Amino acid sequence: MDRVPNPRLPASTAGRPALDPMGLRDLMSRLPTGVTVVCARVGEDIQGLTVGAFCSLSLDPPLVLICVRKAGSSHDFIERAGSFAVSILGEGQEWLASRFADDTVAPPERLDGVEYVSRATGAPVLTDAVGWVDCELVAIHPGGDHSIFVGAIHTGAYDPDRAPLVFFDRRYLALGQAEPTA
Ligand SMILES: Cc1cc2nc3c(=O)[nH]c(=O)nc-3n(C[C@H](O)[C@H](O)[C@H](O)COP(=O)(O)O)c2cc1C
Repeated sequence: MDRVPNPRLPASTAGRPALDPMGLRDLMSRLPTGVTVVCARVGEDIQGLTVGAFCSLSLDPPLVLICVRKAGSSHDFIERAGSFAVSILGEGQEWLASRFADDTVAPPERLDGVEYVSRATGAPVLTDAVGWVDCELVAIHPGGDHSIFVGAIHTGAYDPDRAPLVFFDRRYLALGQAEPTA
């Protein structure tokens, strides 16, 4: 696994003061994102968290990335696992997004009562996900208080007939509420 050294982070951009954390959260709340649950396995132990910062990185080779907060329990767990699976949530699965983001629920207990299948890496994939990828962790890049985990896709699949769950303005939305522009 590659590990990239931490660069010096700029305190401001183009002479403007850096946004404070809440200001940046407000700004980012204007960008709609999909909602995923990322799970990993270390031996018999499994756990997961809700992740919005998931995106495609490379098509050839097939790579994705997720950003995971360093202070959370999932960060070191995924690193120890050396692999992770990303399940894309669909309409009606807000409860899963809330469950896996709930830091009052112990991470392994977030999977209680949730149907999943363990894929090739051993990582759990939620049974009713709209789509999923099962990945080997191939690089960890620094990203301030988060790390950027790069995953090489082992396998993946999706259901073209299911609509994804969307997070926008700190709320969950069904894509059916959006109008096509063209
Ligand atoms: C819609 C949504 C998106 C989120 N996206 C991320 C994310 O991209 N990365 C992250 O580390 N936490 C994200 N979180 C927060 C974590 O899910 C939450 O802090 C969780 O309790 C972390 O679990 P852990 O302490 O086991 O790591 C998100 C939460 C929500 C509700």
